[in-house]
Amino acid sequence: MKENFWHKIKKPILALAPMAGFSDSPFRIICSEYGADVVYSEMASVASIFYHQKDLGHRTFDILKFDPAQKAHYVVQIFGSEPEHFAVAARLIEQVIKPDGIDINFGCPVGKVIKQGAGADLMKDLPRAREVVKAVIENTSLPVSVKIRAGAGAVSASDFLDNIADLPVSAVMIHGRTLAQGFVGEINCELIKEARKHFSGIILANGGIDNLEQARKILSESDADGLGLARGSLGRPWLFREIKNDREINLSKQEIAAIAIRHAELEEKLKGPGAIVELRRHLCWYAQGIPGASHLRSQLVKVFTSQEIKDIFNAWVEE
Ligand SMILES: Cc1cc2nc3c(=O)[nH]c(=O)nc-3n(C[C@H](O)[C@H](O)[C@H](O)COP(=O)(O)O)c2cc1C
Repeated sequence: MKENFWHKIKKPILALAPMAGFSDSPFRIICSEYGADVVYSEMASVASIFYHQKDLGHRTFDILKFDPAQKAHYVVQIFGSEPEHFAVAARLIEQVIKPDGIDINFGCPVGKVIKQGAGADLMKDLPRAREVVKAVIENTSLPVSVKIRAGAGAVSASDFLDNIADLPVSAVMIHGRTLAQGFVGEINCELIKEARKHFSGIILANGGIDNLEQARKILSESDADGLGLARGSLGRPWLFREIKNDREINLSKQEIAAIAIRHAELEEKLKGPGAIVELRRHLCWYAQGIPGASHLRSQLVKVFTSQEIKDIFNAWVEE
């Protein structure tokens, strides 16, 4: 196996959790600048990689591209249901994308993913889940990790981890909510703590970490090696630094505007001018819970260029 970076990171390990439509290259760079140790890609379909394996310019590979400005360790996340697809995807991702690790999605509750027997549906199918993990491990020299839920159907996180305990899986991110809970509700820290008895690798707790206080609580109650931040990092990438330094940060309007503008400039540079439309969803998160938020948001949802974003934020700073 290539160098297992997971064991070299100082604890608590802070990771940007995978988020389709959000954890793209510009956001991964920004989060790494604010102290994320590990950043996950958006989930990539192994079926798409399998069927486009001769077309390395295909969009599926394009969105996974690594940019050297991203200083954090880079983990590419894949989803699907066919072990053969996972095998090809693992090989190609290592060769073409060259990330630091590969992660398998066992937590996604979205209908179109569940329908193909992938994501959280695959967590329920222990024999197939094991085949998938083996297929990835046998086809890459990179450290392999898994992302699971507190439970899916009758399968708990501990059942899942018992099922792969003899395989060299380096890390697990546990979303402390069950499949039935979806994206809302309490995080089950007891269950994450319990996972320690069933898994010898790195454990990251995930779910509901929106501020420093919550981060401290989940870290201490789950006894995890680190945290995976998802929605809490949107429009607030400095949450990584707050947790790292264990100190709250109160940014001025100028500082928030500067981060959003840098995000827009990176988006335009790395993904092209057309991507600014996609960035609108990120921009709305920057305009959360700040004075003048609704007026700011109503302007940001209409932008097409980074210059417009700059002008809107600069005018907001002057208000
Ligand atoms: C918009 C969005 C996209 C997501 N995409 C993925 C994904 O691609 N892969 C994955 O494993 N989880 C995905 N998740 C789940 C998050 O990684 C995380 O487990 C979940 O949001 C709980 O954390 P939070 O409460 O801090 O947001 C996504 C979540 C959101 C909100």
